[in-house]
Amino acid sequence: MRLLTRSTMLVTLIFAGANLYAQEFENAVTYNGDVGRIINENCVVCHREGGIGPMQFETYEQVRPWAPLIQFKVANREMPPYAYDHDVGIQRLLDDWRLAQEDIDTIVEWVNQGSPLGDADVTPPEFELADPDQWNFTAELGEPTLVVESVPIDIPASGNDMWHKHYVPTGLETDRCIKAVQVKPRGNAKSVVHHANSSAYLPAEDGSLERENMLTEYAMGKWGERVPDGVCRTLPAGSVVSWDIHMFPGGIGATAPGTVIEDNVVEIGIWFHPEGYENEARFKQDLRSYDIQFTRQNREEKLVIPPNGELITQGYHSFDHPVRIDSFQPHGHLRMVAASIEIFYPETGILEPISQISNWSATWHHSHIYDPEVAPLVPAGATIVLRQWYDNTSKNPNNPDPDQWVFGGNRTADEMSHAWMAVTHLDEEGYQELLAERKEKEQRSLADN
Ligand code: HEC
Repeated sequence: MRLLTRSTMLVTLIFAGANLYAQEFENAVTYNGDVGRIINENCVVCHREGGIGPMQFETYEQVRPWAPLIQFKVANREMPPYAYDHDVGIQRLLDDWRLAQEDIDTIVEWVNQGSPLGDADVTPPEFELADPDQWNFTAELGEPTLVVESVPIDIPASGNDMWHKHYVPTGLETDRCIKAVQVKPRGNAKSVVHHANSSAYLPAEDGSLERENMLTEYAMGKWGERVPDGVCRTLPAGSVVSWDIHMFPGGIGATAPGTVIEDNVVEIGIWFHPEGYENEARFKQDLRSYDIQFTRQNREEKLVIPPNGELITQGYHSFDHPVRIDSFQPHGHLRMVAASIEIFYPETGILEPISQISNWSATWHHSHIYDPEVAPLVPAGATIVLRQWYDNTSKNPNNPDPDQWVFGGNRTADEMSHAWMAVTHLDEEGYQELLAERKEKEQRSLADN
C-alpha cells in the first residue's frame, strides 16, 4: 500500500515535469521564430554595415552578444529612437518607429529565456536593405521630383559652431504642391551638420529676395516630412531655396582633430503632387516655428537657466480661423528634457492633452506627424499651449556641464525654446465638414462593432 502510493506520486511528478517542459516549449521565444523578424523590421535599417547605429544586427551571431543591452533599451523605449509618450494624447502617428508593446514583451521574454536561436530550419522573414544614403521615402514614392543641393564647404573636423547661409535657385517654372520632403546631409556632412533650415524665397520687384514660406527643418536624426493629401504646401515658381545650415564640428562621429571634412553638402529632396494639384486642394498648409514664452522680436533672448537649475517655458498661440495641426516637433538643445502640446477650449475650460515627450533628447529630432484622421481640429479662438522643460542639473544625462549659466541662443551650448508645427488653415465650412466626417466614421465603426 505504501509502496503503491509512493510510485503513484513518482508517476504524478514525472507527468508534472513533462507538462511543465511541454508548456515551456510551447511558450519558447526564439530568434528564428519571433525576434529575428522584429529586429529585421525595426532595427537593421540603422544597425547594419554602413548604417548609423554603432553595431550591426543583421544576423543572430551579431545580435546575440548584445541581447541584454537590447532588452534594456527596448524595455525602456530608448530604441528604436522615437521618444513619444505612449500613454498621453494622440497615438496614431505616421512614420512612427515605436515598437508595439507585444513586440517589446517578446524581446524581453526572449532574453529572459537565454536568447535562443531556435529551430534551425525556420528562418526569420527575408528583408531588403536599401542603400543607407538613399532617400527615406524612395521605397514608397520613388525618387524625389526635385533635389536642391547646398553650396559645398570645407570645415574642420573639430572646433566651434559654424553657420553657412546662402541661396540656391530651384529652377521651378510653375507653382507646385509638396507631397513629401526630406533634407539629408551627404556622406561625411552627416557627422557635422547639427541642423539645417530651408525656406523658399521669391525675388521681389526691386530684385531683393522675400521669404515666401518655410520648406522644412532638418535636425540630427530627422526622417522627413509628409503633407497630408488634399492640402497644398506650395513651392512657388521661380523660388529660391535659402539654406541656413548649423554645423557643430566634432558633434557626433568625431574625426581626428586638425583634419578637415571636405565638400560638405546638404541636399533637400522634394516629392510633388502632380501639376494642377493646387486647384484640387482646398486648403493651404504651412510649416512654421512657433515661439515658446517670447515674442518674435526678442525670441529666446530672456531664456536663462541658472547652474544646477531647472526651467519650464510656455507658449500660447491661437488663430482667428479653424485649423488642423498636422505635425508637431519641439526644438531645444542639451538641457531640454521634455515637451508637450495641449489645446485649451475657452468655452468649456477644458485643457486637452495632444502630445507629450517625457524623455526628449537632442540626438533625435522627430516631426510627429498625426494620422490625418485624428489630427487635432482646433476651432477659431482655442489656444494651443506649448510647454518645454529644461534640466541643467547633473540628473540630465545629456548635460555637458551643470555649473554653467545657460542662455537662449543659437550655439549648441545655448538653449532654444520653440516648436515646429505644420498647420492646415481651414474655413468654418471645411472645419464643420471634417468634424462631421469624423463623427460619421466613429458611428459607423460603433455600429460595425
Ligand atoms: C534610426 C536609426 C536606429 C534604429 C531604427 C534603431 N537604432 Fe539602435 N542605435 C542607433 C544609434 C545612432 C545608436 C547610438 C547612439 C544612441 O544611443 O542614440 C544606437 C544605439 C543602440 C544600442 C546601444 C546603446 C548603448 O548604450 O550603447 C542598442 C542596444 C540599440 N541601439 C538597439 C536597437 C534595437 C534593438 C533597435 C530596434 C528595436 C534599434 N536599436 C533601432 C540607431 C538606431
